[in-house]
Amino acid sequence: MAFDIDMIKKVYAQMAERVDKAREVVGKPLTLSEKILYNHLWDGTPSKAFTRGKDYVDFAPDRIACQDATAQMALLQFMQAGKDNVAVPTTVHCDHLIQAKQGAKQDLKRANETSNEVFDFLGSVSNKFGIGFWAPGAGIIHQVVLENYAFPGGMMIGTDSHTVNAGGLGMIAIGVGGADAVDVMAGMAWELKFPKLIGVKLTGKLSGWTAPKDVILKVAEILTAKGGTGAVVEYFGPGATAMSCTGKGTICNMGAEIGATTSTFGYDDSMERYLRATDRADVADAANKVRPYLTADKEVYENPEQYFDQVIEINLSELGPLLNGPFTPDLSTQVGKDMTAKATKNDWPMQVEWSLIGSCTNSSYEDLSRASSIAKQALDKGLKLKTSLGINPGSEQVRYTTERDGILGLFEELGSTIFTNACGPCIGQWARYDDPKNAPKNSIVHSFNRNFAKRADGNPNTHAFVASPELTAAIALSGRLDFNPMTDTLLNEDGQEVKLDEPTGWELPPKGFEVKDNGYVAPHEDGSGIEVKVSSSSERLQLLTPFTPIKDSDMQGMKLLIKAFGKCTTDHISMAGPWLRFRGHLDNISNNCLIGAVNAFGKKTNFVKNQLTGEFGGVPDTQREYKKAGIYTVVVGDHNYGEGSSREHAAMEPRHLGVAAVIVKSFARIHETNLKKQGMLGLTFANEADYDLIQEDDTFNFVDIADFTPDTPLTVEIVHKDGNKDTIKVNHTYNAAQIEWYRKGSALNLIKEQNA
Ligand code: F3S
Repeated sequence: MAFDIDMIKKVYAQMAERVDKAREVVGKPLTLSEKILYNHLWDGTPSKAFTRGKDYVDFAPDRIACQDATAQMALLQFMQAGKDNVAVPTTVHCDHLIQAKQGAKQDLKRANETSNEVFDFLGSVSNKFGIGFWAPGAGIIHQVVLENYAFPGGMMIGTDSHTVNAGGLGMIAIGVGGADAVDVMAGMAWELKFPKLIGVKLTGKLSGWTAPKDVILKVAEILTAKGGTGAVVEYFGPGATAMSCTGKGTICNMGAEIGATTSTFGYDDSMERYLRATDRADVADAANKVRPYLTADKEVYENPEQYFDQVIEINLSELGPLLNGPFTPDLSTQVGKDMTAKATKNDWPMQVEWSLIGSCTNSSYEDLSRASSIAKQALDKGLKLKTSLGINPGSEQVRYTTERDGILGLFEELGSTIFTNACGPCIGQWARYDDPKNAPKNSIVHSFNRNFAKRADGNPNTHAFVASPELTAAIALSGRLDFNPMTDTLLNEDGQEVKLDEPTGWELPPKGFEVKDNGYVAPHEDGSGIEVKVSSSSERLQLLTPFTPIKDSDMQGMKLLIKAFGKCTTDHISMAGPWLRFRGHLDNISNNCLIGAVNAFGKKTNFVKNQLTGEFGGVPDTQREYKKAGIYTVVVGDHNYGEGSSREHAAMEPRHLGVAAVIVKSFARIHETNLKKQGMLGLTFANEADYDLIQEDDTFNFVDIADFTPDTPLTVEIVHKDGNKDTIKVNHTYNAAQIEWYRKGSALNLIKEQNA
């Protein structure tokens, strides 16, 4: 299944009527985000205006994309839904399970040996149910989607947080849990709280060392890691149209790092150029015919404050390169300003050990081309690498074309390692150390999006900084965090001081893209005879059994499993790295449940009290003891609990092990929805300070769970060890349908019942 031009034409054909009607019901000019959202209502032509940040709305996405780690569980769930074929065009991309170690050829060969069972499973399920399959080595999901499937004005969901990357081509593309994807694959509506809208006006023009990456690093600094929560970020202005399509993709990609629902840009000439360069002239022609509907109304751009909930303005002509990190993507340092002082004060290792260019964020032709201009200068001026340098091209098309054009050759000549067209170090699939836990303190710089502790190499002492590909390449030549390529000189092999010129590059390959085998496998036209095999002795794949509904009587006498302290991302709840291999085996992967969360009592990870024995142990083991005793448990957490990725394992694992409720100060959107889908309770403290009431030996009684209804807080009685009690209110965002998921044990149980 290549891109589906008929589907795209259908989306455009209905656009005028629906968007014009939406403008009428909303009663004012529309932003681009609203146009796309109202054009994708499940119920068709809009009949009422929705309240941003409040109304739950059913949508009909045009496409679904899944990556290999999340696709396993999504497809295992879809197999339970009783359907012959996926209801909307869907693709599966094998990119997460390929470890970076020696280099592309050897690494891909090893991945094909070690993950053969999983790739075969994904290939055969795809073949059976009409899903397009991108084989290992074909590329990173979001780069492949941008090159093949994204289209202006479209709506896509994907089982990966960085699905948002497709906003670079004018889509509303949103990362979801596998359970949401299963709904849409099964032909059902997809529900989303109508988002708030943040407008980012870009004036001026990027130049010199400043790259699209710096725009989003700046936005992250302004909005912080939580600032985009529940909102679509819409970029506009002359600075936006002057930027390449893949540069826009970079900016939208890292919208996930500010918690945004998604980000998008209006259709412009750069998108048209990209569509034509990637062999989709027919999409560009179709988009040109509905051009006014693929950007906001002109009044919106003239008076953005009237139409967005928040407006930020950035003058790109004044923006300089940034280096964000360590440990969080919103901690910015302007290159040439405070790095020396900050690193000294915070004891960040100034010496950089590794520089990495790639990931779905920055692995386009333009990215590699601009970074290679730095590599070329190094070769010309007699400079050597001062750090190791690794490159992950974003797709086989990018790899083939950059190899043809001599770009990869420059990196190789400099001594870099070219890894597979895959995620590799970005998702902890980096065989950097034999014993990462005890590896030394060090700094790395990369052009990826995430830089949480342990994310890249499993080493908690690795300080990861995020930068543009060109700055990453420059730092690889200096070996220092505080290098300022705009003013500093470097000593070459002859002892001469040399200075780097500004990076240059090509937005698109001058000789066009080229690829011999892009790695795509089309599904069988009639998959009914295809058998999907899962061995009962497999340690990596396990067919699912439906979750049992949690009874009201189970919600009494519950024990505290863990009170998570501080940041608790989906990486803390369900760690990636070596655990990726168990993504398709719920019981096995549950052995990583919450092992990265810091227990508020004692401040250790994976060390909690078993209230039944008084002994301390790991979280999964302790939880399994409670389950054996027939006791459900509660997890307590801080702000933005579950931020990070869309993986529903972070909800399925606690559910599988017997956690019934998660009570936090606030949730990351996707994780909250995932908890709902799995038929458990995701709740927030009505009074945040009640977090402090929770003690290590607490027992919880959900006294009014029988009356669980929309818009009504629940009451929880907390019984402390000394017999004292606190009664608190907890809020929830469940609507009537979501309460039904809870009552049935999971959303999937309900789908199955409806399909029976
Ligand atoms: Fe892969 Fe990292 Fe992107 S894991 S999908 S390259 S965020």
